[in-house]
Formats: sequence, structure tokens, C-alpha cells
Amino acid sequence: SIEKTVVAINGDGIGREIVEAARRVVDKAVVKDNIVICWAEHKAGGEAIDAYGKPLPQSTIDACKKAEAVLLGAVGGPKWDSVAPAIRPEKAILGLRKELGLFCNLRPVRIFKALQEYSPLKPELVQDVDFVIVRELTGGIYFGERSEASGEGPNEKAWDKETYHRYEIERIIDIAIDTAKKRKGKVTSVDKANVLASSRLWRTVAQEKATANSAVTFDYLYVDNTAMQLVVNPGQFDVIVTTNLFGDILSDEGAVVSGSLGLLPSASIGTGTALYEPIHGSAPDIAGKGIANPLGTILSAAMMCRYSLGASKAADAIEAAVEAALTAGYRTGDIYKDGMKRVNTEGMTEAVLQYI
Ligand code: NAD
Ligand code: IPM
Ligand code: MN
Repeated sequence: SIEKTVVAINGDGIGREIVEAARRVVDKAVVKDNIVICWAEHKAGGEAIDAYGKPLPQSTIDACKKAEAVLLGAVGGPKWDSVAPAIRPEKAILGLRKELGLFCNLRPVRIFKALQEYSPLKPELVQDVDFVIVRELTGGIYFGERSEASGEGPNEKAWDKETYHRYEIERIIDIAIDTAKKRKGKVTSVDKANVLASSRLWRTVAQEKATANSAVTFDYLYVDNTAMQLVVNPGQFDVIVTTNLFGDILSDEGAVVSGSLGLLPSASIGTGTALYEPIHGSAPDIAGKGIANPLGTILSAAMMCRYSLGASKAADAIEAAVEAALTAGYRTGDIYKDGMKRVNTEGMTEAVLQYI
């Protein structure tokens, strides 16, 4: 069999619990593609601050650059809330995205049949939900100049700058178009062009791309309206493409539409090694209890198998096994209802494993 090196970054909080779960599932599934994973554990986030005094050691970056893929749990937590802004745990994720050139984050939101009743929205509103958020990931306000608070009294101020270059917008819209072509052929470009100059450039570029790609239908929505539409009629969306900050916010909203934040996977792709992580954070409130929902990470690992490891049989098998486990009634606390089989992280992992 072929050996593939994957960097595993547990990170903080529930990170270790969910990454271990996903590793077990991947190890079993990739046998179908005649692949063996060589897992290389590296630190990032709070665990790296504790070990090395910084959130993203060069050794982690180098290992990621050499690997076939990176699987990450989550970083951050109250323990590191008072460290200097320059070395916050979250800097590790931002640094990895930048170092690896991961300008595109794909966040597929779909409703599992077995979970239609679990959405906070009415079942009939969510039955057709199947869309992808294409989030720009290395630009915008996340990476603009900023100034921490300075001055005194009412004039004390802090600021962050949103910048987009044409090339950054073009390449992310291109991915949205490619994604839509393989799906229902509809792109919704989300901005705040009625207020922000950077959004006006965004919309201009999106409109040019729309004209040049008649096979795909384009819609343009303001982000506030989009936030509302996601709750009123989430079934209307196919591919949503948007900026770094808007994509962050809308994807948490999109995630709960599907039942729980703990379910949503993501793939970050671009010029270097791709990185796979659930969209949720380190969930400090439930960390260490072994009760986190591992499915967002397991489904991220399925995306990793498909896009980075050439293990499409494994990817299909993992996704089908997750569906089967949910259909059989296995539920972690975040998606539990009376009469279902309540399981912890390990129990859910075993449930998925038995269907692979
Ligand atoms: P969070 O996503 O960690 O948690 C929000 C809520 O969702 C919590 O109640 C949590 O228990 C629940 N939840 C999240 N994942 C779950 C899972 N798999 N199973 C069951 N329940 C789950 O967001 P937060 O509390 O705002 O942030 C906590 C820390 O995580 C912060 O330091 C934040 O910066 C960081 N964070 C990291 C990432 C990342 O590493 N990619 C993403 C988001 C937030
Ligand atoms: C996410 C997270 C990160 C982001 C944080 C932890 C930097 O919320 O991946 O959605 O805002 O991108
Ligand atoms: Mn987020």
C-alpha cells in the first residue's frame, strides 16, 4: 500500500478528542484505497504557547508544507485569553492559512435526513438545504493593518482595515464558479457594497465574472439580507461566495441550520498543502468530558481523503457511515432528543466505524 503523511494538529479544548476520533475513522477507511496514513503530530495554538511560548512554531509550519494534508482540531480557550494579541492561539490558524496559501475555505452545509427535526428551523424549511459557503480566507479585515487601543478616555481608539485586491477576488469567485458548475449552477455573491468600497470592488469583479460565465447564474446579496435569508429560506442557496469576515459569520449560522455547529466540516485550499478542520472552535465549556460531537471533524477528514489523499473510496465510505450512524439513531448531546441512542465522542466514533 501507499504511505501518505498527514500532519495532525490537536490544538486545544476538545481538539484532541475530535482529532483522535477522526484518525481512527480515516485509518480504517483508507484501506479501501490501499493507503496507509503516517500521522505526524505537531502543536499549534494554546498547546504550542505552553510548550514553546508561541502559537505557531516554525517546525509545525515546515511539517505542514511537506505533508500531503493537515488535519486540525481547534485552537484557543480561556487559558490564553490574556496573552499578547500577537501570540494569541488563533494566530496559529491565521498563520497556517497564510503560510500555506490557503485562500479558499469550502464549508458545505447539508441537512442529514435523520436530523431534519433537529434544526432550530421548521423541518419543511430545511429539507432542501444543500449549499456550500466559499469563504475567502487570506485577505480582508483578518489580514489588514490594525491598531490596538491607544489614547485615553472617550477618544481611546482601535482600528482594523479591510482591503481586497482584484486578484484575490477573482481567484475566489473562480472557485465559486467551478464549484457551482459541479452543483446546481447558482452563485450568490455576498457583500456590503452599499457601504464598503472593498465590497464595491468585490461586486464589480463578481459581475465581470458572471458575464464571462453564462453557464452559471449569479445573484448579488447584501450580507445583512443574506443572514436573514439563511433563516427564512435556506433552500434557495447553492454556492455562497463571500469575504473572510462575512464567511466566518454566515458559516456558523449556516451550520446550525443543519442541526449543530458540531456537524460542519471544512476544507481550506489554495497554493500549498490543504488543511481540513471542523468549523467550530475548541468548545472550552465541554472540553475534557469526552462528549464533543466528532462528526464535523470526521466529515472534514472525508474531504481530506477526497481532495488531498486520492482516497475517494474512503471519502465516500466515511460520509455514508456518518449518515448510517445518524439514521441508526446515534446522537451526541448537541443533537440528542428523547428516544435516541445517546453516545459520547467515543460512542459516536464506534458507531461510524462499524459502518465502514
Ligand atoms: P465554539 O465553536 O468553540 O463553541 C460554541 C458552542 O458550540 C459551545 O457551546 C460549544 O460547546 C458548542 N460546540 C462547538 N463544537 C462542538 C462539538 N463538536 N460538539 C458539541 N458542541 C460543540 O466557539 P467559542 O466558544 O466562541 O470559541 C471557543 C474558542 O475556540 C475561542 O478561543 C475561539 O477563538 C476558538 N475558535 C477556534 C476555531 C478554530 O480553531 N478553527 C474556530 C472557532 C473558534
Ligand atoms: C473559524 C474560526 C477562525 C476564523 C478563528 C479561530 C481565527 O472562527 O475557522 O471559523 O475566524 O476564521
Ligand atoms: Mn468561525
